[in-house]
Amino acid sequence: MHIPVLTIDGPAGAGKGSIACMLADKLGWHLLDSGAIYRVAALAALRRSLSLHDEAALTAMISKLNIEFKNGEAWLDGQKVTADIRNEACASATSQIAVLPNVRAALLQLQRNFRQLPGLIADGRDMGTVVFPDATHKFYLTASAEIRAERRLKQLSEQGLSAKLCDLIQDINARDERDSNRPVAPLKPADDAVVIDTSPLTQAEVFAEVLRHIS
Ligand code: DC
Repeated sequence: MHIPVLTIDGPAGAGKGSIACMLADKLGWHLLDSGAIYRVAALAALRRSLSLHDEAALTAMISKLNIEFKNGEAWLDGQKVTADIRNEACASATSQIAVLPNVRAALLQLQRNFRQLPGLIADGRDMGTVVFPDATHKFYLTASAEIRAERRLKQLSEQGLSAKLCDLIQDINARDERDSNRPVAPLKPADDAVVIDTSPLTQAEVFAEVLRHIS
């Protein structure tokens, strides 16, 4: 049976996560936040003090993990880890293990298992290129590093946290560089993806643009 998939790829801070949630709500489809899966795997590695370069040990560990998502919460081996996967240490560890081909291969089936009726919205870096190459609709959202850093700064200040814009721009550029230049599943639009530069757009405008393409 054909189960439709709509993929949304792009760099961190391009607004993929919010648009993916809005689409899943509107269509009543399932939602895959693939970054959260990578983050839970990295958290498990940190908790076990594994080297983030030891591909064989990381891959063996992943094959035994119990990763679940229920009602918007992430669970690792029966423990809720939603907040733990969002800190900077975990983000940095995640982008390190995400360059390893066997780690990516070990997480592939887990991601594909989310493809269930009536359909799936898949948010990530390689959803349209690797995980769901046969997706019904593919989008690639992007925005300048400056705009993404400003959005992040606003998010942080809403949480009562402070940061310097120039540091955030530097972090974003470093992460883009790592995600785009890795040999396996680099961050890039699928050949058949609709590319939307969200820099000059509001969230409502991006959502309207995506809906216009799928209607
Ligand atoms: O989208 P995010 O910030 O939660 O992603 C965390 C990290 O995981 C980021 O460095 C990119 C990586 N990632 C990936 O390599 N492939 C995916 N499909 C999703 C995320």
